[in-house]
Amino acid sequence: MIDRVHLRVPGVSLLLDTRDADVRVAHWGADLGQHGDRLDPAVLTASAAHSAFDEPAPVSLIPQPARAWRGTPGIAGDRLGRAFSSRLVLQDVSVERQDDAGSQRAGLVLTDEASALRVDVELTLDATGLLLIDQRVTNTGDDVYAVAALDTTLPVPGQATESLDLTGRWAREKHPQRRRIDQGTWTRTGCHGRTGHDSTLVIAAGTPGFGWQHGEVWAVHLGWSGDHSSRVERAGDGQTVLAVGELLRPGEVELAPGETYVAPTAYAAYSAHGLDGVSSRFHEWLRSRDRHPSSPRPVVLNTWEAVYFNHDLTVLTQLADAAADLGVERFVLDDGWFLGRRNDTRGLGDWFVDPDVWPQGLTPLIDHVKGKGMQFGLWVEPEMINEDSDVAREHPEWIARPNGAGGRLSLPWRHQQVLDLVDPDAWDYVYARLDALLSEYPIDYLKWDQNRDQVELGHEGRASTHEQTLAVYRLLDALRAAHPGVEIESCSSGGARVDLGILQRTDRVWASDTNDALERQSIQRWTGLVLPPELVGSHVGPGTSHTTRRTHDLSFRAITALFGHFGIEWDVRTLTDAERSQLSAAIRFYKENRALLHSGRAVRIDRPDYTDAAYGTVSHDCSRAVFVYAALATSPNELPARLRFAGLDADRDYRVGLGLPLDPHAAEGRGVPPWLRAVADAGADGAPVVSGRALMQVGLPMPGLHPEHAVLLTVSAV
Ligand code: GLA
Repeated sequence: MIDRVHLRVPGVSLLLDTRDADVRVAHWGADLGQHGDRLDPAVLTASAAHSAFDEPAPVSLIPQPARAWRGTPGIAGDRLGRAFSSRLVLQDVSVERQDDAGSQRAGLVLTDEASALRVDVELTLDATGLLLIDQRVTNTGDDVYAVAALDTTLPVPGQATESLDLTGRWAREKHPQRRRIDQGTWTRTGCHGRTGHDSTLVIAAGTPGFGWQHGEVWAVHLGWSGDHSSRVERAGDGQTVLAVGELLRPGEVELAPGETYVAPTAYAAYSAHGLDGVSSRFHEWLRSRDRHPSSPRPVVLNTWEAVYFNHDLTVLTQLADAAADLGVERFVLDDGWFLGRRNDTRGLGDWFVDPDVWPQGLTPLIDHVKGKGMQFGLWVEPEMINEDSDVAREHPEWIARPNGAGGRLSLPWRHQQVLDLVDPDAWDYVYARLDALLSEYPIDYLKWDQNRDQVELGHEGRASTHEQTLAVYRLLDALRAAHPGVEIESCSSGGARVDLGILQRTDRVWASDTNDALERQSIQRWTGLVLPPELVGSHVGPGTSHTTRRTHDLSFRAITALFGHFGIEWDVRTLTDAERSQLSAAIRFYKENRALLHSGRAVRIDRPDYTDAAYGTVSHDCSRAVFVYAALATSPNELPARLRFAGLDADRDYRVGLGLPLDPHAAEGRGVPPWLRAVADAGADGAPVVSGRALMQVGLPMPGLHPEHAVLLTVSAV
């Protein structure tokens, strides 16, 4: 058998050492060029350590004690206590060198006769540089094999000394955590039965002080919406790995003879140029999918923060009128339209339009919305059930219970329980109801919500998060197949289900329930590490945020929302004339620039202190860009540091202008540098022309903004 496999696309190499009937990652990182093909893995093998195994012990792609790994194994399971330690032997390697898209693929088959297991691994190094890893284990024995873990593990070199992961809570998702990598294991687990508000979008390691623009970074994401774990682990011999995998409970996956457990796809990105390089690989890969949204992302109005549960046709019709006047293109009716749903204690599961509130059904509203040229969207929460609902009264056995039918319920959360979608009757019921709604009404979009942690989720007395997650995927897949024109948003009390598993069958995520622009600056920045902005819903909320009670000027709220899939969540009937014209201008800017914002390369600037932020989107030909400079807090300095742009062409000249008028509340007179004052006063005529090199190496002075204000800059090649 061959002794090495070298996959390579521009910027990334993956060198597998396949000697000794094992698979080890000899190198995952910078492109080795064609020399990589000639690099003998034997040259890279370290010595054996003292008081350790007799042979050198480079970590395997699937780390196992039988392969000299003393850390967390990559595969675990047993047959009633036996077959607890497998030793996988490589049987077959196949390599597809190049398909049309430029991606490369290696297929590996490993078996262990004694444990009666077969493991298939597929490694795809996509043309975008993103590495996809798919693993599955098959029980080739004649009794049951209980799977405890099948993780994806990738080694990172010793110079990766700092780790990064994200955490969060409701209305404050995706906040970064940095730490030094020391010996031991830093594990982030998600046991929420959903991806979770605190889920780490990636587990990453990098060279000291890595930032958005600099440093080598290795990052791994798990495409899964159930329980999961992510870790960075440094063993006693200094070998360091990143690992991700589904978190399985005892008995959750038991393979009968011949059965297979398919692990969720892991996505891995290496960047030689900081976190921007990581996100660029994720963004480009996501954008290359056939099913990536290709139509311009419509301006949304969501009714939630405007009316909450108070559905009234007259009010909603007025809201639709006001929305259409502003240029809204999609009107989304949120929670409150179905049987008995006057508040959040009742109704989930009864997916029938409530005749008390909607005596003529949804048709009058939908007709009105469509008559105004807008799409119509509807909120649903199909995986949930209120005890106070007709469906729960008729089918109490459909409520998931840890100890099976008739057993106790799990603790309530927002007064709701989980519908046991592993039960085919419950699944059929929900499918039929959603299918009926989508067939009866011309619905363009579903806001698909999921509003509770699903701890101790059980089906017939067994842990069922794994099966429930697959059942949800099947539900989405079946509805999409039956109604291919309908777009779906993944919402989960805001951003508790943001992962590439759900995004294979949905069209955007709701990043957070907070519309507070200050919170959103950070939430969107870090959600954007993996998701391009067109997949991230971002709405202009009311002046005073409903989640934090902070008050922000409209310019800051609008500029913040422009860097996502733009929308509004505000009672726009109540706008003053000034607000209406300001919001209309933002919508116009969005429509004129969404093609750029939703296709360009995302760049974030590393700033000298954390009181301000700068970021932008640059077109791939570097001819146009939009940048934001935002003050997040008061600065210790009287004046901010110059903004050194990034991602432009050093050899071209650019004109720097204002995307939206400078808000007089954002910065007062002398706080505005002369070049920006000239732009503000004279428009394009006043805009300076500066070389890309100077913009990136020297930068431009920024205004001394009041905290929680921003300016929107346009950069165009001349
Ligand atoms: C969740 C969502 C909100 C809203 C409410 C409706 O909290 O995240 O956006 O749809 O449910 O109940």
